[in-house]
Amino acid sequence: MKLERNRALRWAYGVTIAVMAFTGFGQMPIFKRYGISAIPGMAWAADFYVTLFIHYLGAVLLSVLLAYAIADHALVRRKIARVTAAGYVRAAILACIVGTGIFRVLKNLPDVDFSPAFTMFIDISHLGFMMAYGAAALLFWRLRARWLTEKVPVRNR
Ligand code: HEM
Repeated sequence: MKLERNRALRWAYGVTIAVMAFTGFGQMPIFKRYGISAIPGMAWAADFYVTLFIHYLGAVLLSVLLAYAIADHALVRRKIARVTAAGYVRAAILACIVGTGIFRVLKNLPDVDFSPAFTMFIDISHLGFMMAYGAAALLFWRLRARWLTEKVPVRNR
């Protein structure tokens, strides 16, 4: 069995991350200030509830994609491929984005109350991890460092 790239999964993942980055920045909110929402067809980008809703949909999709990728790796790909150092770095940052994202969702629930300092900490962490992921993705793309690499078969001596 050869390690083949799952193109559909890669595209779905890339599009989901791009949509989440865009709708995440929409929360800050910067699209009205910088005129993005003045572009015809982009007025929705300045509506907090619209971008938040799309961010939530993205979070559901991202969770499904991650669950699939982890299960696929654990059950099938692990036999022929191993996760590279670059893969572990990306996975760790992604886990932190998802973790802080979950706390941000909790904060939005009416019955959950976090202190202002903790809310700020989670807020900055979510943004910081997102930026770190972007930087890592650029660097690893430039270095052609993939998530997975083929396992070298052990030869009989
Ligand atoms: C399971 C995954 C994720 C969840 C549950 C999640 C959830 C959230 C929530 C609830 C907010 C705050 C909305 C508010 O102000 O009430 C937020 C903000 C934001 N998210 Fe996410 N998010 C996730 C993944 C991502 C990803 C993958 C990215 C980017 C690649 C991202 C980028 C941002 C940015 C830039 C902000 C605004 C900055 C901030 O307030 O921290 N998020 N996210």
